[in-house]
Amino acid sequence: MVRPRSTNKLILFLAASAAALLAAYLFWSFDADVKALLEHRMGASPSPSADTIVKAIKLFLIGIIGYLFVRALNALFFGLAYQLKRIDAPTLIRNIFTIVAFTILFLIAFTFLFPEVNLGALFTTSAIFGVILGLALQDTLGNFFAGISLQADRPFQVGDVITVGAQRHTGVVEEISWRAIKIRTFTNHVVLIANSNAAKEPIEVCPRDNLNARVVFFNTLYTDSPAKTIHVVREAVREADNVSDKITPIVRIRNLGDNGVDYEVKYWPEDYAKYNDTDALIRQRIWYAFRRAGLNFAFPTRTLYVERPSRIARDGDGSAVVERLSAVDIFAPLSADETSMLAQAAVRHVFAPGETVIRAGDPGSSMFVVHKGKVRVQVSENGRPRTVATLNEGDFFGEMALFTGEPRTANVLALEETEVLEIGHAAMKRVFDTNPDLVESLSFIMAERRQGLASHTEDDPASTHSSAGILSAIKRFFGI
Ligand code: CMP
Repeated sequence: MVRPRSTNKLILFLAASAAALLAAYLFWSFDADVKALLEHRMGASPSPSADTIVKAIKLFLIGIIGYLFVRALNALFFGLAYQLKRIDAPTLIRNIFTIVAFTILFLIAFTFLFPEVNLGALFTTSAIFGVILGLALQDTLGNFFAGISLQADRPFQVGDVITVGAQRHTGVVEEISWRAIKIRTFTNHVVLIANSNAAKEPIEVCPRDNLNARVVFFNTLYTDSPAKTIHVVREAVREADNVSDKITPIVRIRNLGDNGVDYEVKYWPEDYAKYNDTDALIRQRIWYAFRRAGLNFAFPTRTLYVERPSRIARDGDGSAVVERLSAVDIFAPLSADETSMLAQAAVRHVFAPGETVIRAGDPGSSMFVVHKGKVRVQVSENGRPRTVATLNEGDFFGEMALFTGEPRTANVLALEETEVLEIGHAAMKRVFDTNPDLVESLSFIMAERRQGLASHTEDDPASTHSSAGILSAIKRFFGI
């Protein structure tokens, strides 16, 4: 591809040179005739304008020949420099050489053809010319000088991988011209970044002849051993193509993530410009290595803990509750199975010191056993609270409303942090069905408590206060 292109260029150059030289030769041979023709047309002889036109055409022809000559000189000079010293001069330097050499040649030709014009004065006195030129060339000159500073600093060279600017264009540098940096991205697009912009932006450079590191991420399940993972991945990566053997790849844990252990593998590609392919190859190698070693990639997982109301049997504290209930005197007649059934039905609640467990007058359909702590039974007397009883671990309360269906007869407050076991209507009914005698012993206790309450109130201890009355009330309520 390269040879035919340079041959074509050479043929084109020779043809252009031949045409220009021929045109110049012909013009110089007939310049007197051209001048006479022009004077004849203008109707004046001699005419200064005809003379100027002829000289301008000559200057134009010299300009073309001069340009071709400078290009030839350029190719010869830099070609030789490359052949002899292997110095590949940047495009910017070649362009500067062309511009300077051409300007010198042009000025020499100009002073030769127009000796009467003072060029120095023309440039220095023409302020308007300067302003126009300055404004017109503002960007171009900015790029030009930024290009020169890039060449002087040499922060990167052709072949390096660079990332430029906020848009993070990444690619291999192909050319640094007087106007722009040309990079070829990894999607084979060409991006041109004006030198003046590049001079203002941060540029990340990965030099071609430098070992630039790359980092690839992967993860494993928490059950996979890190020591094994690190060993397996390191061996898999170091054998992949384009991974430098000068530095051993590093595999390490990055994070203990939500789904698994997050790792990174750091390696040094021999040709950094091929890092996309190498990253992909490394991921592939890790997959196969995992397969052989029985390691697993982590995928999003969630462990769900479902918390249910504290049914005693599910709390793992079932035996303590069974023990507590069997120590309650009214439940003494129950068999072990019945007590354990009651324990399963019980729900545990914790109250802070001073909290109300039961409020007088509320409806109630459950009773409580003090599991841990202490409660106080209070009634209101003349608007002031009066303590009727203090109940400790193993005591029960709330049975009156449960067994009779009447509202709560007193307030019950926790004296310290207190845990109570709540037993509902259904569970008690099952107990009564199998233990009808229990109703009787309960009615005695309730009668005693009622008396305790009545002694402080104006209530008439009518039938419902006697144990017989209570017994029939319970039986009625439970349909026994
Ligand atoms: P209940 O009426 O459901 O709600 C308040 C509870 O306080 C009551 O059941 C009894 O369990 C309890 N209680 C009432 N009076 C006394 C007392 N004199 N001694 C012990 N406990 C009582």
